[in-house]
Amino acid sequence: MKVDITVDSANVKYTPNYIEAKYDYQYTSAVKEGSRILVTPKTEKLVLRTTRKVPRLGVMLVGWGGNNGSTFTAAVIANRLGLSWPTKKGVQKANWFGCNYSSSTVKMGLVYTRDNVHVPFCNLLPMVHPDDIVIDGWDISSRTLAEAMERAQVLEPALQEQLKPHMRNMKPRPSMYFPDYIAANQKSRADNVLVGSKLEQVEKIKMDIEQFKKQSNVDTVIVLWTANTECFSTVMEGVNDTYESIKKAIVQDHSGLSPSTLFAYASIACGCTYINGSPQNTFVPGIIEFAERQGVFIAGDDFKSGQTKIKSVLVDFLVGAGIKPVSIVSYNHLGNNDGKNLSAPKQFRSKEISKSNVVDDMVESNEILFKPGEKPDHVVVIKYVPYVGDSKRALDEYTSEIMMGGTNTIVIHNTCEDSLLATPIILDLVLLAELFSRIKIKRENWSDEEYTGFHSVLSLLSYLCKAPLVPPGTPVVNALAKQRAAIENVMKACLGLPPDNNMTLEHKVP
Ligand code: NAI
Repeated sequence: MKVDITVDSANVKYTPNYIEAKYDYQYTSAVKEGSRILVTPKTEKLVLRTTRKVPRLGVMLVGWGGNNGSTFTAAVIANRLGLSWPTKKGVQKANWFGCNYSSSTVKMGLVYTRDNVHVPFCNLLPMVHPDDIVIDGWDISSRTLAEAMERAQVLEPALQEQLKPHMRNMKPRPSMYFPDYIAANQKSRADNVLVGSKLEQVEKIKMDIEQFKKQSNVDTVIVLWTANTECFSTVMEGVNDTYESIKKAIVQDHSGLSPSTLFAYASIACGCTYINGSPQNTFVPGIIEFAERQGVFIAGDDFKSGQTKIKSVLVDFLVGAGIKPVSIVSYNHLGNNDGKNLSAPKQFRSKEISKSNVVDDMVESNEILFKPGEKPDHVVVIKYVPYVGDSKRALDEYTSEIMMGGTNTIVIHNTCEDSLLATPIILDLVLLAELFSRIKIKRENWSDEEYTGFHSVLSLLSYLCKAPLVPPGTPVVNALAKQRAAIENVMKACLGLPPDNNMTLEHKVP
């Protein structure tokens, strides 16, 4: 049920085109000199302006025919058509559980009876509706989306049969395939590949984006990589270290440029936001520079779906409570094509790196527990077990030191369809990236010409990413609750509302 939120405040103006909110951004500056810390509360007077008109959104997936790509497409159609299907437990209806946009709420305030009022996340600000998204994409496998959905073995057969007529004519565009970057075991599905030099292939991808934009009559296109994990790229002087080097290296057909980096390049050149759902370092320095020059958003890396999400909650809790995690051992086995690709050492290494730094900010926040540079032992194992298919198993053991030399060991066993966790994250990523492109900020005493958008490296999407990319020189936040609060509070600020401080003095002071 859609709710209409109207803010009654002299600081908030609703014009036909914009919601404009005057906002006091309060933060604390802290300067450390030896053991002395000088703390100063600060207030910046800002105006946030949100464009009210929602564009027609096109999403182009790289790896469209994979488990995530086909499940995302199926989910958009199933929800749009309101499909339902029989299961052993009764009739199941299409939904978007796991997606903040569709299935989460935000606390708005209190009514006079002191009950909380929560509103659907999707009604806070004008946002694209998932039913209206137009999908296209590329895959090195030529299977139609109906065949890809069947191959993925994620959705129930009774649902698949209803979806097939809608997905039969969806065929991925041929893609860039450089065998050195993904596992050799993927070769057999590569029957839909571009040929020609790197320059020709980049031009083809740019043409695809432009053609899709025209044909489907969308206003905005977001490109999202959900293709196989690539090996890490070496950052090389003159190849990918600057924008000029990448441009030159493309002309020289240099082998040091990965498909994902070239997709990012093509997407930025077309002015389209590019999101990386896999762990590899697509965003080499030259790509970050290019995105900044073009004023285009980039975001990543690696969907934060299961094990890491829990880790970034649990370690935040432990360290916040003064308990010292000393050993975190994570074991996974899965049997989908992602697992098959990750069974190759170089691709596994990308995932291992992406999963390895996810507790750093929490550990570094507590010098009482951890000496500078000290970290818990942290090991990640991933094994390919075909039989379990998309139903991934994750086993985690957290060992912590508690008082007086005591030890606390927590063990978690999680079984879950991998793609049903990742698909709602894809939806949140594209919907939020689109929303944030319509928010502009300026200081209150600046002119309207001085409105500026968020930094090209859209770190607000960290909540959905395992290894968040942040603007150069800024801190990475991994703790899940902080990442969620950043999104929610920015959205509230656009309505001139304060962040939820959870003090609830209304209940505590007579
Ligand atoms: P998948 O293996 O089912 O799908 C990947 C698709 O990419 C395949 O259809 C493959 O043919 C295609 N592909 C490979 N190289 C390509 C290229 N250069 N251009 C176009 N298409 C290409 O994998 P799945 O499960 O859909 O996962 C996709 C990615 O998302 C993986 O990198 C995975 O590590 C990452 N991821 C998945 C999570 C999950 O929970 N499912 C969580 C975090 C990350």
